[in-house]
Amino acid sequence: MSITYKAGKNPHPLEHRMIFRNIDREGWDPGIETYLGEGGYESLRKAMAMAPGEIQAQVKTAGVRGRGGAGFPAGVKWGFIPPNNTKPVYLICNADESEPGTFKDRYIMHQDPHQLIEGMVITAFAIGCHTAYIYIREEFPFAAKILEGAIEEARAKNFVGRNILGTGFDLEIHVHRGAGAYICGEETGLIESLEGKRPYPRIKPPYFPAAMGLYLCPTIVNNVETLCHVTHILKMGGEEYAKLGTPNNTGTRILCVSGDVQKPGYFEVQVGKVTMGQLINEMCGGLRTGRTLKAVIPGGSSAKVLRADETFKLKDREISIWDIPMDFDSLAACGSMAGSGGVIVIDDSRSIAWVLNNINAFYAHESCGQCTPCREGSLWMKKISDRIVAGKGSPDDVDTLESVAYRIDGRTICAFGEAASWPTESFIAKFRDELKAATSDSLKGAIVNPETKLAAASLKV
Ligand SMILES: Cc1cc2nc3c(=O)[nH]c(=O)nc-3n(C[C@H](O)[C@H](O)[C@H](O)COP(=O)(O)O)c2cc1C
Ligand code: SF4
Repeated sequence: MSITYKAGKNPHPLEHRMIFRNIDREGWDPGIETYLGEGGYESLRKAMAMAPGEIQAQVKTAGVRGRGGAGFPAGVKWGFIPPNNTKPVYLICNADESEPGTFKDRYIMHQDPHQLIEGMVITAFAIGCHTAYIYIREEFPFAAKILEGAIEEARAKNFVGRNILGTGFDLEIHVHRGAGAYICGEETGLIESLEGKRPYPRIKPPYFPAAMGLYLCPTIVNNVETLCHVTHILKMGGEEYAKLGTPNNTGTRILCVSGDVQKPGYFEVQVGKVTMGQLINEMCGGLRTGRTLKAVIPGGSSAKVLRADETFKLKDREISIWDIPMDFDSLAACGSMAGSGGVIVIDDSRSIAWVLNNINAFYAHESCGQCTPCREGSLWMKKISDRIVAGKGSPDDVDTLESVAYRIDGRTICAFGEAASWPTESFIAKFRDELKAATSDSLKGAIVNPETKLAAASLKV
């Protein structure tokens, strides 16, 4: 069936729309009748005729990796629920979407909520869960309302509630609104918050949610987009799904591009089938007029920055930034990560000190304060970069900044410590000269970007 999209919203020819098939589509609304009219909830009917273990096997075969940040295979995670478990099992949909540069989940919740609910019911059935939650950030009140309405619509059709489709399977889904904190996106902080407490992340081990999650019961936490993929895996079968994308990087994913491009926005692509160059130059219409690329942060603000003039080694090939395939393994091999899919493009008009300071301000504000290196260090990093941006820093400040970052990294309870320190570590490794120049009158203007070739290897790991 041919689909018409709203004016100016046509997918780019390099896109492969699956999760975003109905986003900004002419004549589409988030109601259940529209969804049912296009085969909605057929995947659920199919799943309910299968054994839970068969569904899990399909998701494993599909190889879908989590779209929330860490890229962990969903089917493998589900398999971590202890086999002899006698406690209730919970499912939590992580709809916190708080990583700067990421703006995909909200479109799904606003425009295609039943795709998510269908994925959640299938997942709950597969893992033996009867109570599921959608933890949604406070800043999405409209999406929370839409989801609540969609759950009631699904209940009226017997897709949610008691004795779903006459199978004897019961499931309640609750929408829980957060209070607006980045750390509530971290799965164990989220769980604490859901339990009504301050969202202090828990130490892993032992608190891996699949074994000891909500109320210390086995809990699967998956991102909104990941759960939507489950609907499609059931529809097409794990093997067919795995043909999308590239080996070990299967399926599609939504890339959110922001920053210095002509046409920022979202693009759903087969994972690894599009390069950074295609994304920026073709899909986003290129850089702003008269500008050149300085750097890209490829996976949300926590990801390590890539310099435009670096060369990267990928499977014995030397490649430029433009040739990096946008997939989990390639971006990791280039010293960064695919993360949450938020691609932030930085052109030569930007002061690196200013960009870093902006990021440091975010992490200093969002640290939950539970552990000292992160609580104190994130604020120190902000204060030092404040000074540099104000032209009041000394060249030593850059080294101090770097040493603070490396003293947070690896020494904290949760991965926020890395999220906060990686930007500073990588910006300094790759733009040390520019940052130093910003601290000294004698150096000002002496350094023009891009200055020197700094390989990703110069990062202390
Ligand atoms: C500081 C921090 C913030 C996070 N924020 C989010 C978020 O907003 N949304 C999300 O889905 N995952 C977020 N994550 C990742 C979650 O902890 C978790 O890995 C994810 O929800 C699992 O889902 P997935 O396997 O489907 O990706 C965050 C992680 C950290 C360390
Ligand atoms: S690393 Fe930061 S955000 Fe995470 S628990 Fe420690 S203080 Fe809180």
